[in-house]
Amino acid sequence: MARRSKKHAGFGGQNKEQRVRIVQNADMTSKIIADDSAGYIAHEVRDALDRPLHDLRISLLDRCNFRCPYCMPETEFHDDYQFLTRSQRLTHKEILQVAHVATQLGVSKLRLTGGEPLLDKKLPELVRGLAALPGVEDLALTTNAILLAPIAAELAEAGLHRVTISLDSMDEQVFRTMSGGRGELATVLAGIKAAEEAGLSPIKINVVVERGVNDHTVLELLDHFRGTGHIVRLIEFMDVGNRNGWRRMQVVPSRELLAKVQERWPLRSLDRNYPGEVARRYQYVDGQGEIGFISSVTEPFCGSCSRARLSSDGMLYTCLFATQGTDLREPIRNGANDDELGDILSRIWLQRADRYSELRRSDVAEHHALSKVEMYRIGG
Ligand code: GTP
Ligand code: 5AD
Ligand code: SF4
Ligand code: SF4
Repeated sequence: MARRSKKHAGFGGQNKEQRVRIVQNADMTSKIIADDSAGYIAHEVRDALDRPLHDLRISLLDRCNFRCPYCMPETEFHDDYQFLTRSQRLTHKEILQVAHVATQLGVSKLRLTGGEPLLDKKLPELVRGLAALPGVEDLALTTNAILLAPIAAELAEAGLHRVTISLDSMDEQVFRTMSGGRGELATVLAGIKAAEEAGLSPIKINVVVERGVNDHTVLELLDHFRGTGHIVRLIEFMDVGNRNGWRRMQVVPSRELLAKVQERWPLRSLDRNYPGEVARRYQYVDGQGEIGFISSVTEPFCGSCSRARLSSDGMLYTCLFATQGTDLREPIRNGANDDELGDILSRIWLQRADRYSELRRSDVAEHHALSKVEMYRIGG
């Protein structure tokens, strides 16, 4: 599908014909990007492994009101922990500039994450700006939903398309363990209901499955959401960051979970919704809806990975497991215009060769294991 961004004077202010330009891959194969008779143009860039840039995941802040042990363990992220200050974080205007430039390179999906993005009190204002960007076809938010109920309708009205909610168990005790003792399950469920009423659908429920912690409660959770129209996705516990004490034995392989679910409710596999979708989709044969499996550990999907991640302090990362990013805040604060920022972004993407999950078992991965960026900084 052709990705669109509005006719714009970007990339040197050329006229329309000139703006259809050829971008070169790291291996110097030419790629003509996008032209569109309607007067919209996106200069789609492809990385060194020929993957386009389609998604931008924007982390709004590094703080969270949960302390999920697999993401922000309380022992590490205690009261004295130095989170980013307001001035270190990108402003909404700066975020809008990055997002705008990204759409000119082919990004059509934006996801707002955190930490916990609803801690940003002016979120509806940002959503309004992002929703109005030409070329944005999908604008989603990932949240733990604790603060969602009071603001769901306003977010929908501002132009948010849908929400994805992190909820690891319907068992009160297990939920508290997995959220680090913060938050009430009932409040999360109220948030989901409010999102439903506001039309922020399809609502997806992300469940990180950890052996011995919540795997015994997965069927109960699926049972709760069957027939509601919400899509539960079971996520393999990943070795993101360096602080969650990840061990491979804690991962429940998706194929094991799939077999367990199939025993109870027969499933039929579904095609991907779009190239690069991370979840493998299934539907219940009895018509009670869809579920997904995200199997980054046992079945990596780097080959089609089209995601870039912007941290709240303005670093651009080209992989969830990156050890390094590129600072966009400095050039932005030094007055870089859209053309200049676009050139920085396309240069980063053209050089990109990340495929950490595919290399996880290798020496390369071991070397890089201790310096990965933390998940709460780039929002998963
Ligand atoms: P949709 O747009 O609804 O398809 O969502 P998504 O699956 O792209 O995004 P979501 O934030 O819901 O991702 C769910 C989980 O999948 C994340 O929290 C991660 O655990 C994992 N995930 C997403 N993108 C990547 C990725 O690029 N690499 C890896 N290894 N895991 C990813
Ligand atoms: N492994 C897998 N998923 C994770 N998430 C956070 N940490 C991990 C991890 N270690 C997921 C959360 C949330 C999303 C932002 O990332 O459940 O849905
Ligand atoms: Fe917060 Fe989400 Fe991380 Fe849990 S997984 S600590 S809710 S950012
Ligand atoms: Fe993409 Fe990196 Fe995840 Fe592979 S490990 S799918 S390259 S973010």
